[in-house]
Amino acid sequence: MREKIVVANWKMNGSLKHCREWAAGFAELPKPQQARTVVCAPFVYLTEIGRLMMPIGIEIGAEDVNENPSGAYTGEISAGMLADVGCRWCIVGHSERRQLFGETDNRVAMKALAAVKAGLRPIVCVGETLAERESGATERVILRQLTAVLSVLSPKDLGAIAYEPVWAIGTGKSATPNVAQAVHSAIRQRVAQVNAEAAQTLPILYGGSVKPESAASLFAQADIDGGLVGGAALDPVSFHAIVMAADALR
Ligand code: PGA
Repeated sequence: MREKIVVANWKMNGSLKHCREWAAGFAELPKPQQARTVVCAPFVYLTEIGRLMMPIGIEIGAEDVNENPSGAYTGEISAGMLADVGCRWCIVGHSERRQLFGETDNRVAMKALAAVKAGLRPIVCVGETLAERESGATERVILRQLTAVLSVLSPKDLGAIAYEPVWAIGTGKSATPNVAQAVHSAIRQRVAQVNAEAAQTLPILYGGSVKPESAASLFAQADIDGGLVGGAALDPVSFHAIVMAADALR
């Protein structure tokens, strides 16, 4: 069976106080038996959350990375720096990065490659906008985004793919389990064209308004191996309930 992974994406939220209260709140709750738990947080908090969360079984990751190893890139953070402070994971190509910061498919691919070179597991986000879905372009868009990454990286080097329909992010309107499963299956088939064995083990996460109430039915789908959780991950109790929904699937 594929590993189950639930990843928090805090985005640009929180404070040191929030990090400490969150970790203390999560630590009081039952430990998952098999689901991997990852918290991706703003760069400045990574060292502190690593210190607080690694002892309670949570791995840490970044929300973005620069594609270059070092140099004159004022304000940027390299994958080596992330590994240095204990990150194991790194989100790349989140739709907010693509839409608000103009990240292209090619740049996302280079970021994923930089993460792998530094020993991180990239979580590569793909997803269509509402207009793309309504015009019937969903699969074409997702496969285009995926192909850019597969052209520079072997699927066995990917940490996870996250399918995040843009229309479902932060809107409270999650994709239904069937709609999500159809896209996850198309993603796995595309990966299988490159490496059938890696396609079977690659975790494909769903993201977009995952809540404790919706998690179990999403994660029960054949090709949904966990979630990338934004809003509901800011509260340790809600996030823990989502982790436990993945953990219950054995
Ligand atoms: P959401 O965000 O759970 O708040 O919809 C998910 C994400 O953007 O990763």
